[in-house]
Amino acid sequence: MSVNKEIKKITTHTIQKMKAAGEKISMITAYDFSFARIFDASGIDIILVGDSASNVMAGHETTLPITLDQMIYHASSVVRGTNRCLVVVDLPFGSYQGNSKEALNSAIRIMKETGGHAVKLEGGEEVVESVKRIISTGIPVMGHLGLTPQSIYKFGTYTVRAKEQAEAEKLKKDALLLQEAGCFAIVLEKIPATLAREVSESLHIPTIGIGAGMFCDGQVLVMHDMLGINTEFKPRFLRQYLNLHEQIMGAMHQYISDIKAGSFPSEKEQY
Ligand code: KIV
Repeated sequence: MSVNKEIKKITTHTIQKMKAAGEKISMITAYDFSFARIFDASGIDIILVGDSASNVMAGHETTLPITLDQMIYHASSVVRGTNRCLVVVDLPFGSYQGNSKEALNSAIRIMKETGGHAVKLEGGEEVVESVKRIISTGIPVMGHLGLTPQSIYKFGTYTVRAKEQAEAEKLKKDALLLQEAGCFAIVLEKIPATLAREVSESLHIPTIGIGAGMFCDGQVLVMHDMLGINTEFKPRFLRQYLNLHEQIMGAMHQYISDIKAGSFPSEKEQY
């Protein structure tokens, strides 16, 4: 057996120690082997195989259509591209809401068939029993509160959540319940920064924000948004680090015109 002793693998414990040490946690989504390999080599702490694959990989309007089998395909590809970072896999809509046995069976399939290290699911009080049952078998769970895209038809819009007192109070209670149930971290999506700060300071487990401001213990972005592959999506919280759409377009135009002009391939590029 060859074990590379040089590589320090990130675990759920590493993530929790980072919060205790005041070190911010970096997370990005990925859905395939090639990008996962680049992200892992870049030093990212966590790769999330998000059910946002339903939007950015499959072109659906919501995250609802993606299936457990499809998530397993994406996650197993990502895992093959990593050897250092923590890989968290989303439980898709319909794979855990029925009851805690269904939730456990879905989580077990993800762990057995992908080699991922943890699962993520959306919701608070209503999923606590499932969270406890999954964790009781040794599978780490990341929670997800605030804007929970699997409930989009209940919310009606993708606008900022928990601006009203009652919803903010419920979110704070849910965060504590998830922590008590044993979650190792919680994603806070699209909530006011002041609320995210209060929640982050009240928990000993880390919060990972997306559109939840600077006081979260870590940040996550969808890779297609932060790399500028998808340029139509421009929410205020998004920082775009590249314009891959423009760069790929430029390369494609050059490639097509080289073919049309007969300048590709050249003599050096043939046998
Ligand atoms: O599916 C996803 O990409 C997510 C992130 C937005 C946190 O859940």
